[in-house]
Amino acid sequence: MSAVILAIESSCDETSAAVISNGKVLNNIIATQAIHQKYGGVVPELASREHQRNIVAVVHEALKKSGLKKHDLDAIAFTRGPGLMGSLLVGVSFAKGLAIGLRKPLIEVNHMLSHFIEDPKPAFPFLCLTVSGGHTQIILVRDYLEMEVIGETQDDAVGEAFDKAAKIMGLPYPGGPLVDSYAQKGNPLAYKFSDTDMPGLDFSFSGIKTQFLYFIRDEKKKDENFVENNLNDICASIQHKLVQMLLKRLEQASLKTGIKEIAIAGGVSANSGLRNSLQALALKNAWNVYIPKLEYCTDNAAMIAMAAHYKYVKKEFVELDVAPLARMPI
Ligand code: KG4
Ligand code: ZN
Repeated sequence: MSAVILAIESSCDETSAAVISNGKVLNNIIATQAIHQKYGGVVPELASREHQRNIVAVVHEALKKSGLKKHDLDAIAFTRGPGLMGSLLVGVSFAKGLAIGLRKPLIEVNHMLSHFIEDPKPAFPFLCLTVSGGHTQIILVRDYLEMEVIGETQDDAVGEAFDKAAKIMGLPYPGGPLVDSYAQKGNPLAYKFSDTDMPGLDFSFSGIKTQFLYFIRDEKKKDENFVENNLNDICASIQHKLVQMLLKRLEQASLKTGIKEIAIAGGVSANSGLRNSLQALALKNAWNVYIPKLEYCTDNAAMIAMAAHYKYVKKEFVELDVAPLARMPI
């Protein structure tokens, strides 16, 4: 049975399309929206407009690079949620239009389920730490379409904490990657921060954000060039703390469940501190860890295409009245 699927991702500020043929990703085109940089965060209204502007070219490019024609496609897949409603609507509507025009079935994908579908794959059951600008979760994955959130943030996502810390230091959005690059030249133990203790396997990042705000404010009173003069050490220290908070819970989750197959996913899984510390923990705890390639850390349609492939095999299609969901449980 041939399974050629075009997948579209538009949940936040990346417009992406990918073609997958019999489980093999042929390409993964991503248009990242630069417009949000000057606002210090994603502006939903602008994101929808950028998706409208980009989507035709992105889909066209994915098809062209695959060497296939529209009529070679067997199904059209799209991100149904979670995400920004206006952004999701662009991808969902475009996918529906294509499906109608080509008379092909539609496949919906939950963005959060797809983040960790990658090769090589961990053995089931595994734990996945999903860390992005909108999510911080530990997911117990029993099978591709069967999973349970066993810990999650009760307030902000860790990506937001990275971005907020960067903003407090006057760095542009998205600050996570910048904090990471300065951190690589700094001392992670230069400044100490305390973490907020949450019950069970849950996280909280709002306290550390405030703590960091006051820390910078107080230090700047003593030395107005504090940030400029100590940027590498400050970045290394805050990153160290955030990574520690994540890995502490992940270690507890592994102990509690007895699972030693561990994956990470989402934008923050690109963080070098997290990647290195996870490798160290893997040695200490005899874990098998699965760290995504950098191109799969940001939102992309290849991951939607891979999830769609499994659904295609099971003939899990949706009708044209399917609507996007800003919140979509796992
Ligand atoms: O998954 P993602 O691309 O978008 C969603 O939120 O769904 O994640 C984006 C987040 C942003 O907060 C960004 O600052 C953060 O991931 N991020 C990083 C790094 N690269 C991206 N945070 C820390 N270190 C990085 N290297
Ligand atoms: Zn994401």
